[in-house]
Amino acid sequence: MATDRFKDRVVFVTGAGSGIGRGTAEIFAREGAKVFAVDLNEDGLKQTIAAISAAGGVADGVACDVASMASVRDAMTRAISTFESLDVLVNAAGVGRAIRFENMDEAEWHRVLSINLYGPFNTTKVAIEHLLKRKNANIVNVASISAMRGQAYNAHYCASKAGLLNFTRSLALEFASRGLRANCVCPGGVKTPLVRNFTPDSDMEPHLIAYSMPPVPGKWGKPEDIANVIAFLASDEARMINGAALVADFGVLA
Ligand SMILES: NC(=O)c1ccc[n+]([C@@H]2O[C@H](COP(=O)([O-])OP(=O)(O)OC[C@H]3O[C@@H](n4cnc5c(N)ncnc54)[C@H](O)[C@@H]3O)[C@@H](O)[C@H]2O)c1
Repeated sequence: MATDRFKDRVVFVTGAGSGIGRGTAEIFAREGAKVFAVDLNEDGLKQTIAAISAAGGVADGVACDVASMASVRDAMTRAISTFESLDVLVNAAGVGRAIRFENMDEAEWHRVLSINLYGPFNTTKVAIEHLLKRKNANIVNVASISAMRGQAYNAHYCASKAGLLNFTRSLALEFASRGLRANCVCPGGVKTPLVRNFTPDSDMEPHLIAYSMPPVPGKWGKPEDIANVIAFLASDEARMINGAALVADFGVLA
């Protein structure tokens, strides 16, 4: 259902070329926002922008590597020159894969941390001056249930998401008096291209993977399930929610 919940708001979404980021860009646009979408994958990004435009929404965007401060700065400059202000930053870009620690080399560790943790640092760094000029501005970071506990074969991803969660909580405290909120959504399994990378190898201990399963076996979320939570956190209805880690996982952590 289209509403005007985000009318006159500008939303910057990373990872908008696929999955949760795409679903998020679409929901914000449907509810009246002007969406600036970025992704490393230019084809996926173009599809998202075209789908939003075809549905009557307002979106623009540019290819951007969130791991590069220069690339993020260029994208933000473009966003501000296009839409003039910024109300909401959503960090959804992310990578990961199941891998035994003995096989995880330095480059793999660095890649996951540079996208999942340094990425939100880079975007926040360039967004903050614009967000602080607006009333009811906020940041929503897509963490994971992997932020809240250890997981075998996932050390780099868990470290990156736990870091993102406490980064977000720290921002929430530091900027509360200036009217800026920051929250995380912590999804469980959502059917997107990313989860293909988490198919376990035969040399991984099955009982260490089984405890990540939802209480209803085989139940997966859809990108819109998480996009709806993100939109709620970004909305004025959530004005009292700051520094939260909102879990959406069908009860895995319960
Ligand atoms: N799918 C899940 O089960 C799940 C669960 C918990 C958390 N998450 C988190 O949700 C977020 C979105 O993931 P998804 O499941 O939609 O996956 P996805 O692969 O569908 O989307 C991720 C997007 O991030 C983009 N991206 C990757 N590296 C980038 C970079 N350096 N710069 C810019 N964009 C980059 C990819 O091109 C892709 O479009 C991620 O942060 C992920 O960790 C996903």
